[in-house]
Amino acid sequence: MSVLRVQGLNASYGKAQVLRDINLQVNEGEFVSVIGANGAGKTTLFHVISGLKAGQGDVVFQGRPLPKRAHEIVKTGLIQCPEHRHLFPYMNVMDNLMLGAYLRDEEDLDEDLDMVYSLFPRLQERSEQMARTLSGGEQQMLAIGRALMSNPSLLLLDEPTIGLAPIVRKAISEAIYKIRNRTDRKISILLSEQNVIFAFEHSDRIYLLETGEVVKEGTASEFKQDEYVRNAYLGEA
Ligand SMILES: Nc1ncnc2c1ncn2[C@@H]1O[C@H](COP(=O)(O)OP(=O)(O)O)[C@@H](O)[C@H]1O
Ligand SMILES: [Mg+2]
Repeated sequence: MSVLRVQGLNASYGKAQVLRDINLQVNEGEFVSVIGANGAGKTTLFHVISGLKAGQGDVVFQGRPLPKRAHEIVKTGLIQCPEHRHLFPYMNVMDNLMLGAYLRDEEDLDEDLDMVYSLFPRLQERSEQMARTLSGGEQQMLAIGRALMSNPSLLLLDEPTIGLAPIVRKAISEAIYKIRNRTDRKISILLSEQNVIFAFEHSDRIYLLETGEVVKEGTASEFKQDEYVRNAYLGEA
């Protein structure tokens, strides 16, 4: 069953059209990636889906047209973990996490806080620390943790690996595996990445975005064997 279906989506900044006739789908429990170079349109696509930017076209979520406005969209369970994290820098780790849960009943939160802290023990150790004083990797963990605190059914992860050392990327990767393998709650994930290897590691299916257009789609194993993808995105000439 399809959780998210995007059809004929276009978006522009002024006269510059940056998304052209995008069609994509995420099925229940699926991990789907949108890969593409810097400037391909990944963040714009995520912002249109999340209601942070206007676009033209259809976005259907769980069988219904998505509301147009961001604050209504988050109530449906579609949650974006934004590129560059956008934490509340002068608030501590715990308060940042709790802000992710501001729409939820307080009695449901302890269990989820434990879940986030078990995914990212470094956040628990630093729960009283101001977000701005965390390392880049810890900030990324916090951004993911904050998104999880809203109990998403679809999580949009916009370039979580950007600027991170391999060892931190690995910690994020392991957390993503655990998030997907929880048996108590099903989550679908839409990832945007220019780190193609990271996307390959997790994805069921992939869309390749180039200058605002989907130029290729397929399963992760199809992408891994695709000559064009290997040459252009993995430097295997
Ligand atoms: N706020 C903006 N105003 C004007 N142009 C923008 C804005 N944000 C992004 N763009 C342009 O839109 C295109 C897609 O950018 P973006 O969606 O950020 O791509 P990606 O996330 O794949 O790097 C780029 O050409 C970028 O320069
Ligand atoms: Mg981006």
